[in-house]
Amino acid sequence: MCLLIVERVSCELGGKYIVRVKKMTDCQGDAEGAKSPLELYEQLTAQGDEVRTLKTAKADKAEIDAAVQLLLKLKVGYKQMTGQDFKAGCPPSENSVAPNNGPAAVDADDEDTVDPWNVSTSNAKGVDYDKLIVRFGSSKIDKELVDRIEKVLGQKPHRFLRRGIFFSHRDMQQVLDAYEKHKSFYLYTGRGPSSEAMHVGHLIPFIFTKWLQDVFDIPLVIQMTDDEKYLWKDLTLEDCHHFAVENAKDIIACGFDVNKTFIFSDLDYMGATPEFYRNVVKIQKHVTFNQVKGIFGFTDSDCIGKISFPAIQAAPSFSSSFPQIFKGRKDIQCLIPCAIDQDPYFRMTRDVAPRIGYPKPALLHSTFFPALQGAQTKMSASDANSSIFLTDTPKQLKNKVNKHAFSGGKDTVEEHRKYGGNPDIDVAFMYLTFFLEDDEQLEKIRQDYTSGALLTGELKKILIETLQPMIAEHQERRKQVTDETVKQFMTPRPLNFNF
Ligand code: TRP
Repeated sequence: MCLLIVERVSCELGGKYIVRVKKMTDCQGDAEGAKSPLELYEQLTAQGDEVRTLKTAKADKAEIDAAVQLLLKLKVGYKQMTGQDFKAGCPPSENSVAPNNGPAAVDADDEDTVDPWNVSTSNAKGVDYDKLIVRFGSSKIDKELVDRIEKVLGQKPHRFLRRGIFFSHRDMQQVLDAYEKHKSFYLYTGRGPSSEAMHVGHLIPFIFTKWLQDVFDIPLVIQMTDDEKYLWKDLTLEDCHHFAVENAKDIIACGFDVNKTFIFSDLDYMGATPEFYRNVVKIQKHVTFNQVKGIFGFTDSDCIGKISFPAIQAAPSFSSSFPQIFKGRKDIQCLIPCAIDQDPYFRMTRDVAPRIGYPKPALLHSTFFPALQGAQTKMSASDANSSIFLTDTPKQLKNKVNKHAFSGGKDTVEEHRKYGGNPDIDVAFMYLTFFLEDDEQLEKIRQDYTSGALLTGELKKILIETLQPMIAEHQERRKQVTDETVKQFMTPRPLNFNF
């Protein structure tokens, strides 16, 4: 006889609520039968690692074969028990159709790779974001939600919302309900400072966060994960901390209000605020190694700093991590604007939150800012020709756009006039959707480019003329940001809000 016991209902790691079921059995002496689906899942994850380790170590073939055999056997057993195929990063769910969520788990027919370290697709139009919503188990920002935001705020939503650049969310309706009831919430976003050079793509979440701060008039915390970059890159601690301060200048230049914004370096803040570290430890206690392996694809050879880092990115989602701002209150809800590749961190955070007595953070996810070469990947700070840097001169900017921006136009003027261009794969057009404010003008450009009335050179000229003043103004504002200003932003202190 088998007895099913529901163990816990709060797991979000699969992107959906998961009821963990413990299988009790009275079949004496049957070790396999005594396992719960979760235990079997964990055993499978460990066995997968074992196979990988043996292969990497070029172990004896017979030994590898035996390990693979066991893995397959476990998979068959898992399917029999749960009715689902085993997928790394997808713990067993109550649903017979298991969602494919973990970034490490990519369907064979699904070419898009999206995790905190890699973004790539074979599609020239870019990542299939609707598929990502299904895979990650988030919700689409549809017209209805954008209309509600407009109604609640009494003003036009940001172009990033109007144009689907912020395209996915978790619990945004709940945040709007809270706002309507005059309940407080706060914003949290961050940046991994891996070099001094920031490009325009890095500004997307900050431009949007600045707008959110203005329209909602709420506190904002910005995490600079210098510790993360130290753990992942070949950099010294001093370098990473220096980049955190330098990047903070570019962030401040986006126009944040010093009375409403706290920017912190993990390397400084972790030691300065006991409440923050206490939350880190609470989170660490509630996530297993197997779970982070499933979510982030860590392997046995990753350093333990990486394995525990997700708890540090999770902690700012809880208001009690900032006693100076929230006076010890732990019930203030958090809203996190970020690029979709950061979602794995916050799926983990949302899974842990109710178990440690905190509200789950809400999220707004953005698409990626494409590289000049095309939307198959996001802009990278390490390839000078793939990005427009915030330090580029007007001339450099012009040359990069003209030389490197992938064009959806035809090869000759005659052909282009006859058949028209394809704005969906044209990088200059994509960039205009991010930065050209006027909806009607953008639509006219789209039509003219599609019909062939507008040539590639002319389209690029419009982009250059849009970006040049934008970058020049940014550079001007950044010049005004002194070390003293940075220090103000980065000092733990009360903000202009009463809690
Ligand atoms: N891990 C992010 C990066 O490498 C930085 C980050 C920390 C972040 N906390 C965040 C990004 C919250 C968005 C939201 O860039």
